Amino acid sequence: MSAALWGTVASAQAVTIQENTAGFCSVQGSVDSNHSGFTGSGFANADNAVGAGVDWSVNVSASGVYQLQWRYANSASDRPGSVRINGVNATTVGFPSTGAWNSWTVVNTTVNLNAGGNRIRLEATTSAGLANVDSLTVTGGGTVQADSCGSGGVFRPSYILGADISWTHEQESIGRRYSDNGQFKSIERILVDHGFNYIRIRTFVCPQCPGGYLDNLYSGAGPTENWNDTAHTISLARRVKTCGMGVFLSFHLSDTWASIGHQYRPSQWQGMSDSQIRTASYNYSKGVLDQMVAAGVKPDMVQCGNENNTHISGYSYNNWAGFSGVMNSCLRAVRDTDPNIITVVHHGRPRPDGDFPNWLNRMFASNPPIDADVVCGSTYGTTNNGADWRDMFTSVITNWRKPVMSCEYTNVRRDLVNSTIRNMPNNMGWGTFIWEPTAWGDTKPFNFSNNVYSTNADMDQYARIAREAGLPVPSKPASQLAGTTCQ
Ligand code: GCU
Ligand code: CA
Ligand code: CA
Repeated sequence: MSAALWGTVASAQAVTIQENTAGFCSVQGSVDSNHSGFTGSGFANADNAVGAGVDWSVNVSASGVYQLQWRYANSASDRPGSVRINGVNATTVGFPSTGAWNSWTVVNTTVNLNAGGNRIRLEATTSAGLANVDSLTVTGGGTVQADSCGSGGVFRPSYILGADISWTHEQESIGRRYSDNGQFKSIERILVDHGFNYIRIRTFVCPQCPGGYLDNLYSGAGPTENWNDTAHTISLARRVKTCGMGVFLSFHLSDTWASIGHQYRPSQWQGMSDSQIRTASYNYSKGVLDQMVAAGVKPDMVQCGNENNTHISGYSYNNWAGFSGVMNSCLRAVRDTDPNIITVVHHGRPRPDGDFPNWLNRMFASNPPIDADVVCGSTYGTTNNGADWRDMFTSVITNWRKPVMSCEYTNVRRDLVNSTIRNMPNNMGWGTFIWEPTAWGDTKPFNFSNNVYSTNADMDQYARIAREAGLPVPSKPASQLAGTTCQ
């Protein structure tokens, strides 16, 4: 590195971040040690997929140009990586073949870093994934230190096999338990053991307010606690993260269920002006996210609104300033919390007969457009064996260049929904979330008797889907969960 890069600063400072040292936040894949010649305790082996990446965090004393140097091995052909600084694509770096997985070399590039904390992400641009990455060395004129990763990097496996289990606290409050092959386990551990890697959690603004969720329970539980308020959301998110799964937070932006035709304004926002409601949407969302970050359970993905086919928080999409104001204020709160968090918007009927093409136009071609990364849909019903979902999701990818997910489905649609999403063009179908798998749908992967939800043969089909998608089953090895509260 030429000294000139650092201008008048006499001596460059450097930090090398290993997979087992501060500053290494996460790899979407694994830390391995099966190829010799690495330094530290091993190397980061990202999943072989577009978008798989490794995240680091550094703190520098002065803004300016810094050198990033990766030590890596690659026995395949070039595996370029896009370098994202604080969520923004800075450059792309080639990682040409080194001839063998145990033959290591370095590549480097320069980027601008801000004074203070910076997130550095190397992300695969091809389906081959990244090279195996041994270490990252950051060199610059100011002080360079490994930084805390906060509550961890954003989690994005090569395929999301997810579930919404937001009824868990309520079920447990009335003595319900979960069992797998005759053994009692937590619901989240059962899901881990069958290859699930992500959990969706819904949250309400004020469930205890009049007309709120506590007046509209149908889990079987009573209104004995403020179910699905911020505190319960954090507590469930902690359990999910302890099990090594990703957290997908679903803001209903309502005191109670938000679904097609039910999009009520939170009681605390009533009587406010449009601009006050925008501020309330931002402050509420930011407040929840800040509390989650402070609790060490930063969500990996967030959706602002739920099944917003025509309305959100009492606004029709015919009042675009009102509709977009609520939704974009929440989305901005997510970006301001961490630009790496994946943002999602949700339609409840992604079918031609569900007004979906028109909705996409409104969402992304209006002024202002909705600023979200991903579109998800509820895929319960289909009139033509999934062709309707397939065509609509494909149009999101080709016309709007956004990835898609099924954020709700039931066990009867298990294979159809997962194969539809897995077969999306360009790997742009990110994954699926079954809705309340213990207790919802015509068929379920659990049988229920004597207050116990017991896995049945259908649950094994999820493990099969995980394996077919190249995911590990269990999603986190038992050896890594021993001694944790994920049991
Ligand atoms: C092999 C190799 C891994 C590597 C992988 C890949 O499986 O053992 O270390 O990461 O190939 O192609 O990415
Ligand atoms: Ca790999
Ligand atoms: Ca290493």
